[in-house]
Amino acid sequence: MACESSSVKPAFLLLLCFLLGAASAQLSGTFYSTSCPSALSTIKSIVSSAVSSEARMGASLLRLHFHDCFVNGCDASILLDDTANFTGEKTAGANNNSVRGYEVIDKIKSHLENSCPGVMSCADILAVAARDSVVALGGPSWRVLLGRRDSTTASLSTANSDLPSPTLSLSGLISAFSDKGFTAKEMVALSGSHTIGQAQCLFFRTRLYNENDINATFATSLKENCPSSGGDNNLSPLDTTSPTHFDNAYFKNLQTQKGLLHSDQQLFSGGSTDAQVNTYSSNSATFMTDFANAMVKMGNLSPLTGSSGQVRKNCRKVN
Ligand code: HEM
Repeated sequence: MACESSSVKPAFLLLLCFLLGAASAQLSGTFYSTSCPSALSTIKSIVSSAVSSEARMGASLLRLHFHDCFVNGCDASILLDDTANFTGEKTAGANNNSVRGYEVIDKIKSHLENSCPGVMSCADILAVAARDSVVALGGPSWRVLLGRRDSTTASLSTANSDLPSPTLSLSGLISAFSDKGFTAKEMVALSGSHTIGQAQCLFFRTRLYNENDINATFATSLKENCPSSGGDNNLSPLDTTSPTHFDNAYFKNLQTQKGLLHSDQQLFSGGSTDAQVNTYSSNSATFMTDFANAMVKMGNLSPLTGSSGQVRKNCRKVN
């Protein structure tokens, strides 16, 4: 709309945009305190038990929120299942056979529909589950602003264009995040998410066999489980030293050319973000603070609020 598209606006339009913005984009830390007081503790306990059964689930839930927010904002569009006459985002290149954690979100949603029917949006569940996942794996906490509503549609083409690919160069990564309003520093902080979780061979094979800025011993050990052909879905940890702990080891790995994805190592490849990687590598507290702040900012990407969208009863389909 005109509020976003034109940088020079007449005064009346500025005022209108301000009023509309104020009315539509308000999230709050206390949104469910009276309508569903048990919501946050329910999510925390379901996430904790999912992460204790399988530590990787914490990583998967964090990524689910990222892939929701980067495609038309944090509106739970990623959760919509395809139907005979609707194709959603689940089969996008970056999501298909890759994003996971949908069943944990379903479990949370069904508990909340029992205790407070029609109250908490799937988009808010994703935001809180991502935070609780990071906390469960030893990372920082942050206050999740709430009041997002759920989309009634999804966009496969936007998912294909807006989710960053592991083949991107540093400048490609910087611009993919700058398109969403993030600085290069915030992009580096958010990439620190790869201190947890796993990646499939098909996403890092080229790096193992064709790139030079990779530690030779590290490459050799990965090739066992990621042959030059076959084994596409074989997993390796994104952080080779502590894949189930949310720490700053990811940045230390980059300094020794042990980034798993091409896009990871691009952050420390003699370019403009090397200094930021060094800072996060030597100062874990700075990383934790910057990461938490960037997550709050990511969670605020274009939410549907007020009477826009809906609160889905089943996260997989429109009411
Ligand atoms: C900077 C650009 C990014 C690229 C190119 C990228 C790419 C990828 C790829 C290719 C995988 C492996 C997927 C698979 O093998 O199935 C992955 C995993 C992951 N990504 Fe990213 N990612 C990026 C940024 C982020 C951000 C900003 C977050 C969170 C805020 C994030 C969180 C994760 C997590 C936690 C995993 C592991 C998921 C699991 O084990 O299930 N990534 N990413």
